[in-house]
Amino acid sequence: MFKSLTLSAVVAFGFATASLAAGAGDTHIEDFDYSFEGPFGAYDQNQLQRGLQVYTEICSACHGLKFVPIRSLSEEGGPSLPEDQVRAYAENFEVFDAELDDFRPARPADHFPPSGLANAPDLSLMAKARAGFHGPYGLGINQFFKGIGGAEYIASILTGYTGEDKEQAGVTFYENTAFPGGWIAMAPPLYGEDIDFADGHDNDLHHIAQDVSAFLMWTAEPKMMARKQAGFVGVVFLTLLSVLLYLTNKRLWAPVKGKKTI
Ligand code: HEC
Repeated sequence: MFKSLTLSAVVAFGFATASLAAGAGDTHIEDFDYSFEGPFGAYDQNQLQRGLQVYTEICSACHGLKFVPIRSLSEEGGPSLPEDQVRAYAENFEVFDAELDDFRPARPADHFPPSGLANAPDLSLMAKARAGFHGPYGLGINQFFKGIGGAEYIASILTGYTGEDKEQAGVTFYENTAFPGGWIAMAPPLYGEDIDFADGHDNDLHHIAQDVSAFLMWTAEPKMMARKQAGFVGVVFLTLLSVLLYLTNKRLWAPVKGKKTI
C-alpha cells in the first residue's frame, strides 16, 4: 500500500515537473560569468566601456536607450568616462529639440535617442525586463542562486543563432535557441570580430556578447553596487543590533533566572 502510494506520488511528481519543463519551452540560457554577480560583485569599468562601444557601433542602428541620460556615462560605478569624452560622445547622436523645432547634436544632459527601427524594442531596461532563469515555478530558487539572468538572457540571444531562417508573411525570422518560441525577427547582429577594442580585449562572439550584455545590465540597474552596499551595511547593522538585544535580554532577566536556580 505504502509502496504503491509513494510510487504514484513519484510518478505524479515526475509528470508535473515534465509538464512544467515543457511549459517553459526548450530555450537555452547559458550561465555566463559576470563580475557583478554575488553579494560583493561590482561592474567592471573596462567591460562597460567595451559594451558601450558595441552598443554604439552595432546595436544603436536599431535599438534606443531612451531612459538613459548620456551624462550617466561619467558616473562612478558605470563606464566612468571623463566628462570631455562624454561631451564628444554625445555629439554622435541627434536629438529632436522641441524649442528649436529641429534636430541638433545631443548634449550630455540629453538622453540616448529612442529606437530608430520601429519593431526593435528599447534596450534601456531590457536586462531587468527579461528573466533568463526561472523556477521551479514560482519559487525562484534558480534566481536566488544565479540571479535573475537578464544579462545572461541577452548574451544567450546574441550567441544563440543556429543559422536557420524562414520567411513568414514577408518577415524573415531567424532560429534562436534562447528566444521564446525559437524564432526571432532580429537578424544576427554579431558574428565575432565585429569590433576592435582599444584595450585589445578578445573580440570573439562570446566576449562581445558578454560585454554588451554587461553594459545593458548597467543601463537597467546603474545603482546596483550602491544597493548591494546598502544591503551589506543593513546586514552588519542588524547583526550588531541582535547581539546587543541578546545581551540586554540576558541582563534584564538575570535576577529572575538567578532566583530560579537557587
Ligand atoms: C538591424 C536592426 C537590429 C540590430 C542592429 C540589433 N537588433 Fe536587436 N532587435 C531587432 C529587432 C527587430 C528585434 C525584435 C525581434 C522580435 O521581437 O522578434 C530585436 C530584439 C532584440 C532583443 C529583445 C529580445 C526579446 O526578448 O524581446 C534584444 C535583447 C536585442 N535585440 C539586443 C540587441 C543587441 C544587444 C544588439 C547589438 C549587439 C542588437 N540587438 C542589434 C533589431 C536589431
